[in-house]
Amino acid sequence: MLKNITVIPGDGIGPEVTEAVLEVLSAAGAELEYDFQAAGVGAIATHGSPLPQETSDSIERNRVALKGPLATPSGSGFRSVNVEIRKRFDLFANVRPARTILPGGRYEDIDLVLIRENTEGLYVGVEHFIGMDRDPRAAAESVMITTRYGCERIVRFAFDYAVAHGRGKLTLAHKANILKYTQGLFLEVGQRMAADYDGRVAFEDGIIDATAMFLVLDPYRYDVLVMENMFGDILSDLMAGLVGGLGFAPAGNIGESHAVFEAVHGSAPDIAGQGVANPTGLLLSACMLLDHVGQAEVASRVRGALTAVIRDGVARTRDMGGRDGTAAFTQAVKGALA
Ligand code: NAI
Repeated sequence: MLKNITVIPGDGIGPEVTEAVLEVLSAAGAELEYDFQAAGVGAIATHGSPLPQETSDSIERNRVALKGPLATPSGSGFRSVNVEIRKRFDLFANVRPARTILPGGRYEDIDLVLIRENTEGLYVGVEHFIGMDRDPRAAAESVMITTRYGCERIVRFAFDYAVAHGRGKLTLAHKANILKYTQGLFLEVGQRMAADYDGRVAFEDGIIDATAMFLVLDPYRYDVLVMENMFGDILSDLMAGLVGGLGFAPAGNIGESHAVFEAVHGSAPDIAGQGVANPTGLLLSACMLLDHVGQAEVASRVRGALTAVIRDGVARTRDMGGRDGTAAFTQAVKGALA
């Protein structure tokens, strides 16, 4: 039976990479039915809102979505639609695997997973300006919110992920030495919960700045990492850099009942419309989606074809040092499907 999913092509390169991904999924025999919906800057013109009600209703109904990048103008009054979707569907866990596909990079055989808390911390959006003298923006405050409930569910998710995926170690990265309350609570929850997984998953904690350094110097010392929202946002891009850049990084935003899969990269306005975007990030995200909906065998075929094409240099996009456009790359992946 076909599984209905919401598909949001999004802004910038979103429509190009989405088209490429759906072509590969169809050639691989994915049993999916697509409910196309608009969101992002493009949806303001067509629907009068960056997150139209129909789009929200579609995700609510289908419970699973594949989402292209959505542009968020920096520093404007327009709140990130990505953040809004995560909040609305309580997608508390952001799962970001970083795995080497393109050989010859800084490191070979990287295989890391970062699990980022997705709903709390500084990204809750509780911020305001404070006026002084005649300057209405003399100071600004952002509130970092951390709850025991939020810490427990993300750390539990990370331990369970490690167990389910046969991974032996979980590193909780934090800044409890300075942020003694918010990050202290996160660390305390991790240390307590580690006892429940004793003998199954080894637990360690590390200060976030040192963790960033060690990820660059010796990434093999890590396996699964868990951290709060903003730290995870930053370090997951660092980890994408270890495997060749943003074009290779997939992500799943997982909640109790809903899940939205997306590439880590943004709308890449600098290359939008040129037919040169690398669809790998979204394609790997679609593979995570397939795993999630019980079509792991299709996911594994797609990953196999994608890996073979990139590894053997059958086709490579510009960001991989190749010359192929999105269409030629997509054809090569389709051709490599076993
Ligand atoms: P970006 O990820 O769009 O681009 C950074 C650099 O990476 C650019 O040089 C771009 O050409 C390149 N790049 C990104 N994806 C690529 C791909 N698939 N193939 C080849 N090259 C690729 O980040 P930037 O420029 O900071 O953000 C642009 C917009 O995207 C902003 O409005 C931002 O808010 C939004 N954004 C949306 C995200 C989402 O929807 N999940 C995530 C990150 C940013």
